[in-house]
Amino acid sequence: MTETPRYHPGFGNHVSTEAVPGALPIGRNSPQHVPFGLYTEQLSGTAFTAPRHENRRTWLYRLRPTAQHHAFTRYDGAPNLRAAPFDTPPSPNRMRWDPLPWPDAATDWLDGLVTYGGNGSVAEQTGVAIHLYAATADMDRAFFSADGELLIVPQKGALTIDTEMGRLDVAPLQIAVIPRGVRFRVRLDNNGRARGYVCENYGAPFRLPDLGPIGANGLANPRDFETPAAWFEDRDEPCTIIQKFQGALWQTTLDHSPFDVVAWHGNLAPYRYDLTRFNAINTVSFDHSDPSIFTVLTSPSDTPGTANCDFVIFPPRWMVAEGTFRPPWFHRNVMSEFMGLIVGAYDAKEGGGFVPGGASLHNQMNGHGPDQTSYEKAVTSDLKPVKIDGAMAFMFETRHVVRTTAWAQTSPTMQLDYDDVWRGFPKATLPR
Ligand SMILES: [Fe+2]
Repeated sequence: MTETPRYHPGFGNHVSTEAVPGALPIGRNSPQHVPFGLYTEQLSGTAFTAPRHENRRTWLYRLRPTAQHHAFTRYDGAPNLRAAPFDTPPSPNRMRWDPLPWPDAATDWLDGLVTYGGNGSVAEQTGVAIHLYAATADMDRAFFSADGELLIVPQKGALTIDTEMGRLDVAPLQIAVIPRGVRFRVRLDNNGRARGYVCENYGAPFRLPDLGPIGANGLANPRDFETPAAWFEDRDEPCTIIQKFQGALWQTTLDHSPFDVVAWHGNLAPYRYDLTRFNAINTVSFDHSDPSIFTVLTSPSDTPGTANCDFVIFPPRWMVAEGTFRPPWFHRNVMSEFMGLIVGAYDAKEGGGFVPGGASLHNQMNGHGPDQTSYEKAVTSDLKPVKIDGAMAFMFETRHVVRTTAWAQTSPTMQLDYDDVWRGFPKATLPR
């Protein structure tokens, strides 16, 4: 349990990994004669016939078949977890929240999930759900989402994520992605406290964005992604397994650990990425690039260039542009923007209010941009090269409007005075 996880580097690689030497079948007799009598199972992350460059599947070799379980029954926990379609009326209003408070009672990662909003439909496999979590206890059970892939962004407290394919240590400034259907449990560091953000992606799996004229290098480089080496538990003790299926939670109890995959090979697997390794590209002449220049991962939709969801970061970087308003200008966007802050201060909100662990939402076509403090600084500052350092904000940017949940709309963490951020700007003066 305590050994340090091992990893295979690279994004989307076909990995072959075994926790016991000789467990991986090789060659023409292997489909019938699997070493040690292990059970073979294919996990498909795309349709069988998806084009090769999009096809994701993994072969698992395990102590027992996954199919060996009793019927699932409904689970009533995770009281603030919701799924699309969201039935709350959509709001055009800009919203901002303080960080999630720590729960009073011991709460594990699953029960500590709180859905702020989302879009699309689990049935149609489009859109996202956006959750935050505040957890104070280790999971002693396993979970998987049949509805979507989970992009986990820790903000406070490192996580150890035990999955069927291996274990991931994920600290703040790192992210983890757990594919749809993969079973996992979350254990906590930081004296048993962890807080962060989750994008549950119902659409196409996240992938690296195309780089176009940037060329073959830059942004998130494939070699910096890490997939766990095979790891398993040989434990014949009861273990509850909970799944999220079409928005509802279901549970059953196995008489053994679900983490019993001794070896696997394929390209459908959890992975982690260190955001500090992001190679930021930006202007060296003038003006402000669109934030898409900082895309780490994208879930494409059926419309080219219009993402189901982009995961974008605002990493430490030099600002050198001449004659330029360096923070983001005021803007209105056909996409909807949900932002979080892992550490530091975001350069368009230097007036306070957007704090680490907090969140904001700017829905489709509604104006937003710098607060007055950031504006005054940006139009008066001496434009020497400046390094934005010690900060890491991020955005889940999605083509569909985000409908917030009743919890998010009525939570005491919602800042009811957020509109005031833009109230004091004086009228421009025309020549007379
Ligand atoms: Fe924006």
